Amino acid sequence: MNVKILKNKNLILLISILIFLAAGSYMIFFKEEKVMPLTKSWEIAIPNQKTPAGLVDLSAKNCGTCHVNHYNEWKQSTHANAWTDMQFQAELKKESSPFMCINCHIPLQNQQEYIVTGLVGGDIYKPVKVKNEAFDRTLQQEGITCSSCHVRDGHIVGPTGTSLAPHPVKKAPAMLDEKLCISCHNATAVITPTLACTFETGDEWKRGPFYGKKNCISCHMPEVEREIVMGYPKRKSHYHTFAGSGIPKHDTLTAPMLNGYGFYPEKVALNTTLDKPINYTLRIKNEFAGHRVPSGDPERFVLVNYQLLNSKNEVVVKKQYRIGEEWQWYPVAKKISDNNMDPGEERLYEFNSKVTEKGTYKLKVEVTKHRMTDETAAYNKLDKTYPKFISVYEKSYDFVVK
Ligand code: HEC
Ligand code: HEC
Ligand code: HEC
Ligand code: HEC
Ligand code: HEC
Repeated sequence: MNVKILKNKNLILLISILIFLAAGSYMIFFKEEKVMPLTKSWEIAIPNQKTPAGLVDLSAKNCGTCHVNHYNEWKQSTHANAWTDMQFQAELKKESSPFMCINCHIPLQNQQEYIVTGLVGGDIYKPVKVKNEAFDRTLQQEGITCSSCHVRDGHIVGPTGTSLAPHPVKKAPAMLDEKLCISCHNATAVITPTLACTFETGDEWKRGPFYGKKNCISCHMPEVEREIVMGYPKRKSHYHTFAGSGIPKHDTLTAPMLNGYGFYPEKVALNTTLDKPINYTLRIKNEFAGHRVPSGDPERFVLVNYQLLNSKNEVVVKKQYRIGEEWQWYPVAKKISDNNMDPGEERLYEFNSKVTEKGTYKLKVEVTKHRMTDETAAYNKLDKTYPKFISVYEKSYDFVVK
């Protein structure tokens, strides 16, 4: 009997302790796991948009039934493939990729399966999600689609507010200026120790020589006089291919290209003697880009390759220069070096080598623009056919060494 009471007493004590601990840890838990609001622009999608009156849906395909040129041009752009891109999909699937990756790649909420309302304990890997009733999977495939830039509050946002359109139009040129581009093309944030988001194209442009003269739109969406819908009067229009580096992806094999660099080979002496080196200099100037080249994604780089071949076509000397950034990602993300070329900057890339035998030699010069290294491609399990680089300058010279 006594024993039982004692047991009961112990039990009551034990239960009290347990309740105390549970309440305590609940309070700690509650404190730590408080839902925090989203604060950064790229943590928030553009709120669900309604289809403007007169249109069937928000899709680019539908806009394309009338705006045929705009649609065909946009189709070739990387914007159209910002979601379907194999590299993006591979990276997105990694556990280290937080929820907000999608906000610049499928920026409309209608393209997103869930609405994120906050972060548990402020942790970017613990978004609070609710199902999005307006989710449209077809629209998701279109990446940065027409509606991302042009649809707001039941209107088409345009530069003139034309009354000729079958859909409501709101004149808002300020919404369609370079700030729109910079909202995605300039983000510098260390998100986690091993994840840094570094696109500084906007800042590079602001400190460069083109600021106030040319902007993202004048260079990347050049003006053209044309009908924007067949049968309507010609007016000022803009190409929508968003030509950039021109390094294609699987589904943008016809990606239109811009070149930032001007290439100027210095004069060469093609006849030389054994005691003198074979000498050649390529002057490269970042002449046409309003920002550094490469810009944006830190994985981009440019190689200047030299190969000297003898008369048997054997490579006797190789030389390579790299223009780009180098990053360490583990244990903390840190930029190790950066020799991207500033706008207006020029550099000399020299080949200088003696040979040991007389004869004829061929010097091959090639400049290649790279999306990423072979290692990164393999790490992301991109198949061998995924385009990783393009050649932007090729020349060869025949030297006679006596
Ligand atoms: C049924 C045909 C049709 C469809 C579909 C259509 N548009 Fe239009 N749109 C027009 C016509 C017509 C004009 C006026 C042409 C003119 O002013 O020369 C126009 C004008 C515009 C303008 C210029 C507005 C301005 O301020 O000058 C924009 C931008 C635009 N449309 C975007 C879109 C987008 C984005 C979509 C799809 C979400 C779309 N349109 C769907 C026919 C269409
Ligand atoms: C990344 C943003 C972006 C996307 C995506 C985009 N546009 Fe535009 N669009 C613009 C900007 C910026 C302008 C205005 C340029 C100016 O007037 O300075 C414009 C202008 C237009 C105009 C007015 C005429 C002209 O060419 O200037 C039409 C029509 C138009 N866009 C249709 C479309 C259609 C259709 C799509 C999809 C197939 C599309 N846009 C995708 C940014 C975009
Ligand atoms: C909603 C975010 C967003 C907006 C707004 C946006 N971009 Fe982009 N842009 C991207 C993303 C993401 C990519 C890369 C897509 C990919 O590689 O899959 C890209 C790619 C590009 C490229 C191609 C880069 C290359 O590989 O060469 C150019 C050029 C470009 N954008 C210019 C512009 C211009 C000009 C504007 C403004 C009119 C603009 N962008 C607005 C997100 C955006
Ligand atoms: C004076 C013209 C000019 C201006 C202004 C300009 N760009 Fe560019 N941009 C270029 C050229 C040329 C290239 C191609 C560089 C190369 O790969 O050789 C380029 C390349 C790019 C790329 C691909 C970068 C890479 O390394 O592959 C992106 C993204 C881009 N521009 C976005 C922008 C944005 C955003 C702005 C506005 C802040 C802008 N550009 C302003 C001319 C310009
Ligand atoms: C602030 C907007 C923004 C956010 C957030 C963002 N991206 Fe991007 N992403 C871009 C832009 C802009 C480009 C094009 C860069 C360029 O070409 O210079 C791009 C390009 C890419 C590319 C193509 C790279 C290439 O070489 O063409 C991949 C892959 C990618 N992003 C993955 C991601 C992942 C994964 C996340 C989340 C960790 C993410 N992005 C978050 C804006 C963003």
